[in-house]
Amino acid sequence: MAPFATLYSAVTLAVFAQQAVAWGNLGHETVGYVAQNFLAPKALAFVQSSLGTTYSKSLGVAATWADTVKYETAYKWSAGLHFVDANADNPPTSCSVQETRDCDGGLCILTAIANYTTRVAETSLSAAQRQEALKFLDHFLGDIGQPLHVENLKVGGNDIDATCSGTDTNLHAVTALDTGMLTKNVDANHGSEATTYATYLIGEITSGSYKSKTSSWLACTSPTETLSSKRENPPTIESDVGKLLAARATSATTITPLECPLVWAQESNAYDCSTVFPFTAGSDTCTGTYYSNAIPVIDLQLAKQGYRLAAWLNVIFDGATNLP
Ligand SMILES: *[C@@H]1O[C@H](CO)[C@@H](O)[C@H](O)[C@H]1NC(C)=O
Ligand SMILES: [Zn+2]
Repeated sequence: MAPFATLYSAVTLAVFAQQAVAWGNLGHETVGYVAQNFLAPKALAFVQSSLGTTYSKSLGVAATWADTVKYETAYKWSAGLHFVDANADNPPTSCSVQETRDCDGGLCILTAIANYTTRVAETSLSAAQRQEALKFLDHFLGDIGQPLHVENLKVGGNDIDATCSGTDTNLHAVTALDTGMLTKNVDANHGSEATTYATYLIGEITSGSYKSKTSSWLACTSPTETLSSKRENPPTIESDVGKLLAARATSATTITPLECPLVWAQESNAYDCSTVFPFTAGSDTCTGTYYSNAIPVIDLQLAKQGYRLAAWLNVIFDGATNLP
């Protein structure tokens, strides 16, 4: 963002405003409800006691907290943690994310996930601090699955007209996988409710079209890894979290970069090239092939991130993903 900030501050602000509503409440709640369903015993016990009745003991209810507080003075500092700007990419031609290049000043969604992973596990912190960490993880594991949270939006994106079901929204093209299309789909097919929609995705995970894919969701294998560049011992959620927590024990100040969240970011970012940006200027994003291509991606990203959130918390609290 930095290079554009002075010249195009109005546009930058508009982009931030759009990012602010990305996934929207519906998407985040869905991720939380999916995750809640797959928690292992200790993770579930922690979630329930930490969130308490304030959040109905539910990751679904608590998932939107981070978006609410970033507008409040006390939490303004956290607004920059919801995304990573993939600076060198140019969708739909080329897409890429790198942590050292793109994580502005070491503060972005990638380092935030590491920070709140160590904090949620840190028993010396207060219950309030650990609840904060849990709510951030609940939210950021959703955001990282959103293609537009891993994209440095071009100023030119402002000139692209797009509408959703006839409603003109400036910059709507850049929020293409966002609330407009998601809401339309959930209204039409899933009873207009995050809980109903989550139940559908959980069914696809446990016995439907996603069943055969879930183990690959938990394998932290980069989408850009080819057969020849495949690492012999690719990271797993267990190794990633394990290394982080072990490093924390020896040094409280440095944050070890995580490998799995980077892979998730690269996966989402690839959708900017394949699905988000290839559209006809001025066309309606909520009809036709653009919409029908996007809906399966939205379903998949929300299901995947909910499942990954459960796996992540299970590894932290139960020592293993406990998931197929
Ligand atoms: C880690 O989390 C704490 C508590 O929210 C926050 O004050 C701190 O800035 C975070 N640090 C990093 C490097 O993200
Ligand atoms: Zn967010």
